[in-house]
Amino acid sequence: MTDQTRGQARATRRGLLGAAGAGGLGVAAGALAATRLQEPADAGPPPTVPGTISPYGAHQPGVTAATPRANRVVALDLRDDVDADGLGRLMRLWSGSIAAAALGRPAPADTARDLAQANVDLTVTVGWGYDAFDKVGLADARPAALVKVPSFAHDRLEKRWSGGDLMLLVGAADDTTVTHVLRRLLLDAEPFATLRWEQDGSWRGIGADQAPTTGRNLFGQVDGTGNLLPDDPLFDPTVWTKTPDWFAGGTTLVVRRISMDLDEWDTLTRAEQEASVGRDLDVGAPLTGTGERDDPDFAAEEDGRPVIAADSHMRLSHPDHNGGARILRRGLNYTTYDPATGQRDAGLVFCSFQADLGAQFVPIQRRLDQGDALNEWTTAIGSAEFAVLPGFAEGGWLGDTLLS
Ligand code: HEM
Repeated sequence: MTDQTRGQARATRRGLLGAAGAGGLGVAAGALAATRLQEPADAGPPPTVPGTISPYGAHQPGVTAATPRANRVVALDLRDDVDADGLGRLMRLWSGSIAAAALGRPAPADTARDLAQANVDLTVTVGWGYDAFDKVGLADARPAALVKVPSFAHDRLEKRWSGGDLMLLVGAADDTTVTHVLRRLLLDAEPFATLRWEQDGSWRGIGADQAPTTGRNLFGQVDGTGNLLPDDPLFDPTVWTKTPDWFAGGTTLVVRRISMDLDEWDTLTRAEQEASVGRDLDVGAPLTGTGERDDPDFAAEEDGRPVIAADSHMRLSHPDHNGGARILRRGLNYTTYDPATGQRDAGLVFCSFQADLGAQFVPIQRRLDQGDALNEWTTAIGSAEFAVLPGFAEGGWLGDTLLS
């Protein structure tokens, strides 16, 4: 197949799915989904079809994109001899590879060029760690919004999941693409940096009807409801950093690996599970309401006790109880099995984006550390923080506002 016919085939497939979405599940969609066991009787909302997300813009697109199915986050350490020029060379290389991958084209030196894949919602998000600025002689340029996350009483941090000078978050609707793109970017990085840690996480943000949904963590909780949507007037001030000038349009990211004790959680009653967060498990509604999007009523009482418990995760993390501080969360479910020990671990690769790490993430985390009911079944075992660079324009590159 030539590039042209391949493009036509894709356009046709997407056109058909689009038509099926607009006009109900007709012949076209039925024929395309030949292996489906049963079509829903009611066409329901339009199916979510992965597409191509532009790699260009004022912000890196992965921050606002819906959480994709497959995700990998890696941190790297800069080699000792890398200075600001070297960092700039790596950013140019990565920007070229990221733009090509997002558009479904092989990167220039790609030895597995057939793995390039369009229409998989691919995004790559790049960040620099706190110490990276010192290492390359750019300490003065470090955004004040990036501070080191302090240690907390409940933390049991392991070095193998913590820290790092550079961060890549690769996400897509398809794990093969994530694996290929990450491999390419790590090969680009070899002369400049070494891998420090790598974490995998999945998310199901699409319901049985193929419509976007909030998704659930491994406790079974609907997780992400409280997040602001990009069209909310509070979204921009919550997420995008404005200073220094070179960093305008960037943000900060905290990555916490939080182990979840699924076996202990299983021993709780459903009511106990729901009380620990303050939301029900059926649809994620606050315990004072019936719908996922209902506003919680923190003043409501039953038999003299608050319906949404004083130590519930939602009460303690809600903006009303944190002086209005908000964060943009992304949870990625992880699970590992170590054949040497027979040990399993599962939890959340918890990602938090915020304009100002010290003013937003830290006070919320402190409050949760002191009193969150969930602490009994959750333990942070990794922690890292990064300045997520502003986006780049076509012909530009990541970090060009500082390094060019
Ligand atoms: C494994 C660990 C965690 C689990 C299982 C968990 C689970 C949940 C669930 C089920 C909700 C309610 C639905 C929603 O609004 O998304 C929620 C809300 C929230 N969580 Fe977590 N969470 C975890 C860790 C954290 C951490 C580390 C932070 C921040 C430091 C955090 C901050 C928040 C915030 C800000 C909300 C929204 C509150 C609101 O606006 O109503 N969570 N979490």
